[in-house]
Amino acid sequence: MIHSAITGTGSCLPERVVTNQELEETVDTTDQWIRERTGILQRHIAGEKETTALMGAKAAREALDAAELAPDDVDMIVLATTTPDRIFPGTACHIQRELGTPVCPAFDVQAVCSGFIYGLDIARRFIMTGGGDTVLVIGSEVLSRIVDWSDRSTCVLFGDGAGAVVLQARDEPGILSTHLHADGRYDHLLQVSPEVNGAFIEMKGNEVFRMAVNTLGRIVDETLEANQMDRHEVDWLVPHQANHRIIAATARKLDLPMERVVVTVDQHGNTSAASVPLALNQAVRDGRIQPGDVLMLEAFGGGFTWGSALIRY
Ligand code: COA
Repeated sequence: MIHSAITGTGSCLPERVVTNQELEETVDTTDQWIRERTGILQRHIAGEKETTALMGAKAAREALDAAELAPDDVDMIVLATTTPDRIFPGTACHIQRELGTPVCPAFDVQAVCSGFIYGLDIARRFIMTGGGDTVLVIGSEVLSRIVDWSDRSTCVLFGDGAGAVVLQARDEPGILSTHLHADGRYDHLLQVSPEVNGAFIEMKGNEVFRMAVNTLGRIVDETLEANQMDRHEVDWLVPHQANHRIIAATARKLDLPMERVVVTVDQHGNTSAASVPLALNQAVRDGRIQPGDVLMLEAFGGGFTWGSALIRY
């Protein structure tokens, strides 16, 4: 059986940082409210030239370097994004051109904040079935372009950035399992609806919060059960970064102290499909995540979609 493992990670964050204090000047909010309710202190906001494709390509290059591979080695590019640069061609094709990889499949996945986990699942199955040896899975977002900057209930939450991993064929499993779900009955709770407000994110925050906590609790159980693993065998939680309180609830479910949880929401805000690979890259590069560690990745987002991956790093 062919397995797959993450052999390199990378990221890219826009240069401009916007603090809560700066937002106090443009909408009726306070640093204290944002900190207490979300855990967010700042977010990166993309300039005109910092596109989904260019940030994604930069993160991908870093991940390839870390894996000691070249663009020539790539057999497929999966880009998870909610904010493609154009409706078509797929932004993954633009990334392919930027990187100069040979002709290979390249496409976008739209599963909002769960997109990276969806991409990881697709890449893993591609490798398992002999489709190729090396896949780039990227999450890249410029959410600032679809945020209503006059709506205090959403504009304080989101940020821009990109994260990427290289997934390679291996004899031993790195990715132990992946789990994907969606339930379209809840699409109205978190959406971009052109009819309503000019194509900006709108969210019923409270209801989304409750659903996220319950659903992520369930998927943690499902993931451990599928691997016949006890929750105490998990070394690191690498969660989607929407809200510090949601992350803490999932950590409690795993009986993990917060020191074993990778938190970037304070620095990045919610970067949707980019948030999990950004967090993963940070903890790999600062040496917290070590070879052999067991990682629980999870995400929940619009759709609703949700998913998880259990990884032996
Ligand atoms: N600054 C100050 N006050 C604000 C505010 C802001 N930026 N945004 C909202 N408020 C106000 C509301 O108007 C409301 O005031 P009211 O009681 O006078 O009506 C009050 O704060 C409470 O709002 P509420 O929405 O109930 O707050 P909350 O505790 O649920 O926190 C979220 C709001 C958005 C932070 C929280 O619901 C959340 O994180 N939801 C899920 C996010 C998520 O997971 N996203 C999707 C997955 S990608």
